[in-house]
This record gives sequence, structure tokens and C-alpha cells, in this order.
Amino acid sequence: MNKKTVRDVEVSGKKVLVRCDFNVPQKEDGTITDNRRIVAALDTINYLVEHNAKVILCSHLGRPKGEFKKEFSLEPVAKELSRLLGKEVKLAKDVIGPSATELTNNIKEGEVVLLENVRFHREETDNDPEFAKKLASFADLYVNDAFGSAHRAHASTAGVAEYLPAVSGFLIEKEINFMGNALENPERPFMAILGGKKVSDKIGVIEALLEKVDTLLIGGAMAYTFFKSMGYEVGKSICELDKLDLAREIMEKAKTKGVKLMLPVDTKVGKEFDPNTESKVVKCTQIPKDWEGYDIGTETIKMYVEELKKAKTVVWNGPLGLSEFEQFAVGTDTIAKALADSDAITIIGGGDSAAAIERIGISDKFSHISTGGGASLEFLEGKKLPGIECLLDK
Ligand code: ADP
Ligand code: 3PG
Ligand code: MG
Repeated sequence: MNKKTVRDVEVSGKKVLVRCDFNVPQKEDGTITDNRRIVAALDTINYLVEHNAKVILCSHLGRPKGEFKKEFSLEPVAKELSRLLGKEVKLAKDVIGPSATELTNNIKEGEVVLLENVRFHREETDNDPEFAKKLASFADLYVNDAFGSAHRAHASTAGVAEYLPAVSGFLIEKEINFMGNALENPERPFMAILGGKKVSDKIGVIEALLEKVDTLLIGGAMAYTFFKSMGYEVGKSICELDKLDLAREIMEKAKTKGVKLMLPVDTKVGKEFDPNTESKVVKCTQIPKDWEGYDIGTETIKMYVEELKKAKTVVWNGPLGLSEFEQFAVGTDTIAKALADSDAITIIGGGDSAAAIERIGISDKFSHISTGGGASLEFLEGKKLPGIECLLDK
């Protein structure tokens, strides 16, 4: 990465404002159901603590739309972070108000303070300069480690860098190194698996990857738009009728570029959107009219597993079926397990794909699981991320 990191600057005795992405899923009672984004921030926080910095953390959680709402408080995050760090993390009651001012004024070396949810102020998402300046006034240095929010040009993700020296944390560095290397310098064959709901969500990624990969494997609901574009019946499957031309263009482009574009040959269909619905595997050319495609089929799974055995680098974004329902998680789970056993460099991007792998309990078998949803998609698309662009060059 060509951006400065915390290693490149003096942090000892300094007040350091660290933007993290603590936007974690919670139950209604505030219980955190997946703490990976908090765990991913520990390296940077521990480094700063060990180097006697005064650590001021900030993050958003959800989309509270500019006002205080208890259910969007970072209180559960502060508790979890205290537990993981093995030291108290003081939570300010506000973001730039009296509580934040007092805690950041009195912070000592090695201490950790967390400001409340930055999105309790509309100025955050508006990237308001006065708000950014006020946040910056608490610190001597800005560290961005919120990879999951790096595609947002908000006050705490980019705006503050106008007022403070700005460097990256270890998480952003790791994300960029893994995904950047895979894209720029892949060990070949380089394959990408794309699933998820909509072609339209992933079109930028598909187009960018067609320039880079040797094989592109398609699964998930977006496959049905391709089938429809080839004139097949797709029943009640998710299908974007206004994207049929686009699907045809993608297939054409793959041919021109010499990319092997693989589509499912069979699919598991269900009667209705219900975990226990009746289901069966049919050929992709024979989807019954009143059924809905929810997973890739047995033959497709075999074919994809065989192809992936040849890969040296694999990037995967989006589950291959309705993986929240057990009987339609077979495609996603089998491919995930095959990748877990592979010697290839395996990189997972996207919230739902990462959640699927976490559910099976094989997360540690992958080279890299991105903490970014939208951010990793934009990175794979080759877009510039404002939260990274704003940092000092090496
Ligand atoms: P990611 O978050 O990994 O980028 P997406 O958000 O694009 O992935 O898509 C994930 C969602 O797509 C999941 O909720 C999954 O259930 C759904 N999905 C995948 N395949 C199908 C399908 N065939 N029918 C309905 N939903 C599907
Ligand atoms: C995410 O969960 O993708 C990030 O935390 C960004 O959240 P946002 O989409 O609300 O900006
Ligand atoms: Mg998703």
C-alpha cells in the first residue's frame, strides 16, 4: 500500500483519533451477534496502547439519521471492546459535546475512550467541515482503520483528514494488501465466484473482474437473469427483466476477453419462500413455471468444485443460494468447504458471504475475509475509496 500507516508516524504521548467500523449486527436487546469487525480493529488499538498513545475511538452504528437513538448507541460495543482488550473503554455520552470534550481532555497515555455514534449528528454523513474540525480538535493525529466505511466520504471517514495528519491502521493496510495483490498480481489461474441477489448490484464488479480473471463462476439469484436472457423459463425466480441485454453483453464480453464464464447447469427450486418448502433439483432449462430457484444444483456444485481445484487465487462475493435456509445452503456450503480445503489464495468479500462462512465455522481456513460489504465491492470494482484517498502518501 502506498499510504502511510501508524508505523510511519510518532504516536507516543499523542492523542490519536481512530475511525473504526464498529457497525456490527445486534439482537434487539443489544447482544452483538457477530463481533468480527471489533476483533479486526484490535491490532491497531493494541499497537497504539502499547506505544503510549491516548486512544480516541469513533464509529458509526446503523443509520440513526442524525439524532440520538438508544438502540444505535455504541454502549454494547464499548462493553465488548473492554472485554476483548482486557481494559476499560470509557464511552462518551455524546460525539462532540461536553462528555466527549471532558473525556478527551483528561485522557491519559495508554487509555482508550470511545465517542458515541458519529451518525447521531447529520453533519457526519453530510461531511460537514465544522463538525470534522471539531472532531479533529480532540486529537493530534488521525488513523483511519474503518475499511467497511472507506467508500463513504463522511466527516469521520474522510473530512477530518483536512485538519489532522492522517494515516491508515493495520486493518485497512491488510485489506488493501490482500485484495490489491489478488487483483494486480494474482497467481493464476485466477477465478472469481459471484453470487448474491442482483446482477445490478454486482455489475461493476463483474465488468472489472472480466478484465482480470481466467474464470468467472456465477451463482445465486443473479443466475436467473442470465437464463432468462438466453430464453429459458425461470418460473418465479428473482430475475431482473431490465437487465437481460446487460447479461447478454457480459457473456459476449467474456468471450471476447477469453474469460471462461460458467453458469449453473442445474438448480434447486422451491415451491415457496419458506425454510421447509418442498424442493427439487431441475435442469436450468427446465425450471417449472410456478417454482422459484433458490440454490445451484448437484451437477453445478460438482462442476464448480472441479473447476476451483485448478485455481491458485479465488475471490468470492455473494452466496450461491438462499443460504439462510438450510436446504438451500448446500451450494454455498459445499463450495465454501472446497475452498477451505484448497491451497489457493482465497479471499471473501461481502457481508452475506462472510456470514455464511462464519456459520459453518471455517473462517480461519481462508486467506482473507474482508470486513467490508459495500467497501469491498467498490474496491473490487477498482473505484477509489475516499477513506483511503484522504490519507498521507508514503
Ligand atoms: P453479499 O452480502 O455477500 O455481497 P448479496 O447481498 O449480494 O451478497 O446477496 C446475498 C443475499 O442473496 C442473501 O440474502 C441470499 O439469501 C440471497 N440469495 C442468493 N441466492 C438467492 C436465490 N437464488 N434466491 C433468493 N435469494 C437469494
Ligand atoms: C457496512 O456495514 O457496509 C458499513 O458499516 C457501512 O455502512 P453504511 O452502508 O450504513 O454506510
Ligand atoms: Mg449483502
